[in-house]
Amino acid sequence: MQIQLDWANLGFEYIPTKYKVKAYYKNGKWGKLEVFEEDYLPIHIAATTLHYGQEAFEGLKAYRGKDGKVRLFRWQENALRLQSSARRLLMPEVPIEMFHEAILTVTKLNKDFIPPYGYGATFYLRPLLIGSGPKVGVKPADEYLFLVFGIPAGSYFKGGFKTQDFLIVRKYDRAAPLGTGNIKAGGNYAAGLIATEEAHKKGYANALFLDPKEKKYIDEAGPANFFGIKNKTYITPKSDSILPSITNKSLMQLAEYLGYKVEQRKMPVEELETLEEAGACGTAAVITPIGKIVDEELGKTYVISKDGNPGPISTELYKTLTGIQFGEIDDPFGWTEVVDM
Ligand code: PLP
Ligand code: COI
Repeated sequence: MQIQLDWANLGFEYIPTKYKVKAYYKNGKWGKLEVFEEDYLPIHIAATTLHYGQEAFEGLKAYRGKDGKVRLFRWQENALRLQSSARRLLMPEVPIEMFHEAILTVTKLNKDFIPPYGYGATFYLRPLLIGSGPKVGVKPADEYLFLVFGIPAGSYFKGGFKTQDFLIVRKYDRAAPLGTGNIKAGGNYAAGLIATEEAHKKGYANALFLDPKEKKYIDEAGPANFFGIKNKTYITPKSDSILPSITNKSLMQLAEYLGYKVEQRKMPVEELETLEEAGACGTAAVITPIGKIVDEELGKTYVISKDGNPGPISTELYKTLTGIQFGEIDDPFGWTEVVDM
């Protein structure tokens, strides 16, 4: 039976759902996926994930559509990105089919927790891969755990599709030039926490990080990529220290499809002056339009939205992307998979 929650006001918090799945990697091979219900895991006190951050995760959503069907969005890209994170952190790759089976199982078994259509809410899936075997010397573990849980989720940033202000942080980097910024390692988020918290305390939605090498170019926001729009062109940073966002990749394809130009290149900070629109984009953030960006250390404020509202192209992109995800419009790219419930 569908559980009852305040669907219109869901945030992005842990809400216990009933079923999770996990599989262990031991003796050089993956075991079977098992369903479990507990919110806690027994874990070895010397597991490499606990001491040395040998850990990566993913985030993707299941959407209850206008037609009542449940869709997954470009899950193959998440499976591939988890494999790329695993390679960088010397963890075994989760086979694509195992990833697929895990997200399908969690989605189907928790169908009562999937938000109904019409609230903009979704079922957020969180795959996790950790070094679970013990090592005290700094070495990769011999055993690993892959798990997936889900939560009903609303907007990551308060208020949904509404402009938010971001703070440029120069004091801290979330990633190093040849570090792990381009994979989804938990350690990146630990490194960025201090900047994000500083931004929150000062009343900003989040931190905007600059490239860690020269501090000249825009990298990305704490939990999302960055894009700007001017002269009918969608521009997004090219950088080795940012996460290759699946939402951003989709928006680039959609922008082109809708007749705009697309540029993926370095974006000097001063270019913010010239942007007509800007946004943060990601699975959790969807498109979060940006009102202004403040560079406190240089005493500069870049007002992106003059009237405080999302711009027309960001709005068009948002409607097209979410329209495909919620089955409101055709999916010309074959991005969605209807889950056979
Ligand atoms: N950048 C960072 C640092 C993120 O955590 C995320 C979220 O996954 C993104 C970008 C957006 O990526 P995606 O669109 O694949 O969710
Ligand atoms: C996502 O968008 O899926 C993310 O992982 C971002 C954030 C919640 C870490």
